[in-house]
Amino acid sequence: MHKRLIYLFPILIHKEEQKFKNMNLLVTGGAGFIGSNFILYWLKRYPEDKIVNLDKLTYAGNIENLKDVEDNKNYKFVKGDICDGELIDDLMKNENIDVVVHFAAESHVDRSILDPAPFIKTNIIGTYTLLEAALKNKIKRFHHVSTDEVFGSLALNSKEKFNENTPYAPRSPYSASKASADHLVRAYYYTYNLPVTISNCSNNFGPYQFPEKLIPLAITNILEGKKVPIYGDGLYVRDWLFVEDHCTAIDLIIHKGKIGETYLIGGMTEDISNINVVRKILKIMGKGEEWIEFVKDRPGHDRKYRIDWSKINKELGWYPKHDFDSALKFTVDWYTKNQDWWKKIKTGEYLDYYKRQYGKK
Ligand SMILES: NC(=O)c1ccc[n+]([C@@H]2O[C@H](COP(=O)([O-])OP(=O)(O)OC[C@H]3O[C@@H](n4cnc5c(N)ncnc54)[C@H](O)[C@@H]3O)[C@@H](O)[C@H]2O)c1
Repeated sequence: MHKRLIYLFPILIHKEEQKFKNMNLLVTGGAGFIGSNFILYWLKRYPEDKIVNLDKLTYAGNIENLKDVEDNKNYKFVKGDICDGELIDDLMKNENIDVVVHFAAESHVDRSILDPAPFIKTNIIGTYTLLEAALKNKIKRFHHVSTDEVFGSLALNSKEKFNENTPYAPRSPYSASKASADHLVRAYYYTYNLPVTISNCSNNFGPYQFPEKLIPLAITNILEGKKVPIYGDGLYVRDWLFVEDHCTAIDLIIHKGKIGETYLIGGMTEDISNINVVRKILKIMGKGEEWIEFVKDRPGHDRKYRIDWSKINKELGWYPKHDFDSALKFTVDWYTKNQDWWKKIKTGEYLDYYKRQYGKK
């Protein structure tokens, strides 16, 4: 690097960081799995920032995830829908929002196959409604959280990886709705100069994940003495990302990412199939293969996703710090220690927490 550039570089970074000092964030879907991990991470790392968490509390939203911060003066929960333009407009105005971090979505592929309607509404109309309000309120940054599923499926033996230039080829109502949202976010940047950034990440795992997704489903079923259902032949490959690594990536994109850019975020697992993920969980939990139960495959099941995260690595210095095996062990321990949390979810009792905490307010 040129001598002068080396000298200038820290100053430029410093300036960029200063731009977002003491900021007010509107986090959508902050009562879900990734959103709640993100809020807990952010308030710990940036205790001076203020967060408004807007969440509709669908079946997937659990306000109890945030009980550690509910008395924090810099945190506020608002129950509401991202399709409610008036509410969003008021929030952006009254709370002086600088940055929107948009997690809210219908997120489960299986549910999108059974009923696409809420996916179209929340993921497309909801994103559009937020974009309109962001434009009107001159939001300084709109960060949109998306998925690698928009790129479709790789062949099982393919060595290819998705990157920022991979064409979109979604194959489920879920991924098609997320792809539409991504296109809208990009359109608002090119057409109206809305300062956006987008991230597409691979499958996350970690604490507070709704126990309908593979890893928490496997762990909680075993803890309940039930077998683990595996779709089809189990040879489906995902690029597993520990949720805390996802949070650090979004942090870097918000502070140092370039407006209008997309960043892909992935993990460090090399081609591990679902069946082998479950085998690892069984091994950690001291159980054998007889706990696996093969079930009828999901229609249109994508074979494989793999992420090339070299852009965010080169430009922002990000890499996943957690190796899969240790993070998986940590996750198994977390679900083992926090049985109260997921048992309430499995019985639907977690909804009572909201009523107790917020119903009276
Ligand atoms: N979990 C993953 O592995 C993964 C991978 C890639 C991308 N993503 C993306 O990350 C984001 C968060 O995923 P997650 O796993 O935390 O999802 P989640 O299903 O756990 O949480 C979604 C949250 O959004 C809220 N929500 C749903 N509809 C809403 C609406 N209309 N208005 C306001 N709030 C609403 C829900 O109540 C819930 O709290 C999503 O956009 C998803 O597409 C997730």
